[in-house]
Order: sequence, then structure tokens, then C-alpha cells
Amino acid sequence: MSSPTILNTPATVLVVGNGGREHALALGLARDPAVTSLHCAPGNPGTARIATNHEVDPLDGHALTALARELAADLVVIGPEAPLVAGVADVLRAAGFVVFGPSRDAALIEGSKAFAKQIMDAAGVPTAASRVCTTPEQAAAALDEFGAPYVVKDDGLAAGKGVVVTDDRVAALAHAASCERVVIEAYLDGPEVSLFAITDGTVALPMRPAQDFKRVGDGDQGPNTGGMGAYSPLPWAPASLVETVQRTVIEPTISELARRGTPFVGLLYAGLALTSKGLRVVEFNARFGDPETQVLIPQLATPLGQVLYAAGSGRLTEMGPLTWHDGAAVGVVLAARGYPGTPEKGAPITLPDDTDTAHVVHAGTALDEQGRLVASGGRVLTVVARGDDLASAREAAYEMVGRVGFPGGFHRDDIALSALAAPAITTL
Ligand code: GLY
Repeated sequence: MSSPTILNTPATVLVVGNGGREHALALGLARDPAVTSLHCAPGNPGTARIATNHEVDPLDGHALTALARELAADLVVIGPEAPLVAGVADVLRAAGFVVFGPSRDAALIEGSKAFAKQIMDAAGVPTAASRVCTTPEQAAAALDEFGAPYVVKDDGLAAGKGVVVTDDRVAALAHAASCERVVIEAYLDGPEVSLFAITDGTVALPMRPAQDFKRVGDGDQGPNTGGMGAYSPLPWAPASLVETVQRTVIEPTISELARRGTPFVGLLYAGLALTSKGLRVVEFNARFGDPETQVLIPQLATPLGQVLYAAGSGRLTEMGPLTWHDGAAVGVVLAARGYPGTPEKGAPITLPDDTDTAHVVHAGTALDEQGRLVASGGRVLTVVARGDDLASAREAAYEMVGRVGFPGGFHRDDIALSALAAPAITTL
């Protein structure tokens, strides 16, 4: 009998980016038996433990192509939004590489909120009513049309700082005035959920739903951040959530992008609100979310390199649905004092050893001149733990947080706490 053909063998993989998402992806790729040579550009001190880091600018498509050639990379995974929106995936694809990450045209679904609304409109995807505004007069009229709480979104990429949700009309107008073009929309009530789908442009495989915590302080107080923690799965979410989002959001969006001749190959991130009027899309992103990725990847049983390679090479049908380990995962972000304003850099960090249940993901760390680990960004680390259920994952995560030495940092104490007792939502 002949042995089965192994179709997806991305032996050499290059991950582009240097944050927590890229470290989490690298950890997942390192677990895939098909991946025998793992590289990051530029990576961080966490990825350096499991991959070879290369000092290459993630925005420089030509330098990345030269590196991918030198490595004979089978697969290039682009993590952050900025290189995607800048067209780095196009440069690598034109050079013949299999790339996981959308083209510049498809990444516009994250790069322009107004474009995302056009796609949703054309595809019949449910989302908040909105107005695109370029003048203070238009912004004022849109704010008054929708009323408080006001939702003002910078049209373009803003490194997690583009969205302001406030009851203060003056602050809403000021944010609008600070952006060239804004999308002002009706406020969506209800819990927010992130659902990611891995897609080859035609077929999409949904991941498990996750939830992140955007506000800086306990009890969802204070300004928005890139995300202070995450957990997955969501014990309170309706059983039909994934199937409904796949059918009403992911598939129509992917079809619309393909119909326009700009197929989306990569990770489509649907940020959703489960409102009293039904499911609505809050936003799309064109890449893995951060810190949701940190809790999803450790739970994924499907080999990560093989599924990303299948997506990048248009052969996702060969993979079948994604499979998952039992249990739950919780991630707690440790941020540097001052974040999300100006974070203090250079504070020393000492880390406990990773265990079978808990590990530390590096997001904003560096080595100082003496080779000591220090903080170098706003969100510095994510402590991630798995457990049989959400309560045990949460307990293990906070137990490890307590053993991290990071006097210059802070974290939220209530990640996944209310989810333990949240009443189940049964319908969408
Ligand atoms: N979790 C939010 C983001 O990745 O944008």
C-alpha cells in the first residue's frame, strides 16, 4: 500500500512582525512537525528562543523577499496590519512565495473603515449605520443623527488609537477633527466577540470565538488599548454563533472581495457585537488579533504551519475543519506604566519558567546592553494558561502573573472574571 501523500509541508517558515501575536504564531508553528526551520523578521526576545530572528524591517517588502530567498522559505506569514496595508504580501507573492496575509487591496478592509462599510453594504453583512465625514460640519451632523454614546473611527490605520467611544460630544468632535476622514456610526450595545477565519480567498475555516478586553482598567474603565487580555472559548455564547457568523458575515465578505478581483488570503478578523437587535459587525481586521491569538493558538490541534500553508496556496479544502483541544485558555496582558499613553521603557523583567499549562508571550520586550530583559513597548507580555475550564485556566494564568517580576508594569485583575458567571445568550 502506498503511503498517504503529504500535501502541506511548509518546512521553512518566515514570520514577519515583532509583537505578541507573532510570538504566539511562532509558538504554534514550532509545534507543527512539518515546520523544521522557523525564522522571524525581526521577531523579539521571545521568538529568539524558538526561531532565528533577522533584523529586517517588516515594512520593507524587498528586504523581506531577499531574506525569504536566502532562507528558501516555503511560507511567509505576515502578522501585523501595517505591512499588509503597505502591500508587502504583494511583493513577496510576485517573487513567487506562498504568503499567508492579504494583498494590499484586500487588506483595505482594515486599512479603511469606509471601504469596509462599502464591502458590508454590497455583501449584505449586518453592521451599524454610519456616515463618512471629512469636515467638522459633517461630523457634527452625524453625531447628532446617531446620538450618544458617540462612536468616531479614524478611517485609516491608527495603531489601536483610531476609535473613540464617548458620551462627550466635544471629545467626539475633537477626535473627528484630529483625523483626515472619519466614520461616525451608531453605537452597538451588547457583548463584543472576536471571530477569526483562516481563508484561501474562497474557502474559510472559522476559529473558536474569543473575547478581548479593550479598556485599560478593571471593570472596563479608562481609555481604550490594543487589548489587556483575552479568553476563549466563550461559555455564555450561543451554540449557533460560529455557524451564524460564518454564513452571514465571513462567507459573504470573502465572496464580495473575490468578486471584485481582490480575494482575501489570510486571516479575516470579524469584531462583532451581539446586540439586542441581532449580530452586527463592529470592524474587520486583516490579520490575527492581539491578544486573542495568544489564547487561540495554544488550543488549536490542527497543525498551524500546514493550515496557513494550505490557505496561502489556495488549497484549504484539503484541510477539513479546524480541530481544537478540550478546555479553555486565558491570557493576561502585562503593560508598562503609562500605557496606553506614553509607556515607560527600560524597566527590568524577570520571568518564571514556562510550564505545561502556562507560558509567557513576549510583546514589547528587548534585551539591554547587558543582555537583560527589559520593557520596550506599551503591552510588554501576555501570560497565557490553559485549563480544563475557564475557571482553572484563569487561576493558572493569574498564578503565573504573580510570579512575573515586572515592577514597572501593571495588569487587569478581572480578565475573564465576569464570563465565569455570565448568563447564557441563547439566540442571536
Ligand atoms: N484585539 C484587538 C486587535 O487585535 O485589534
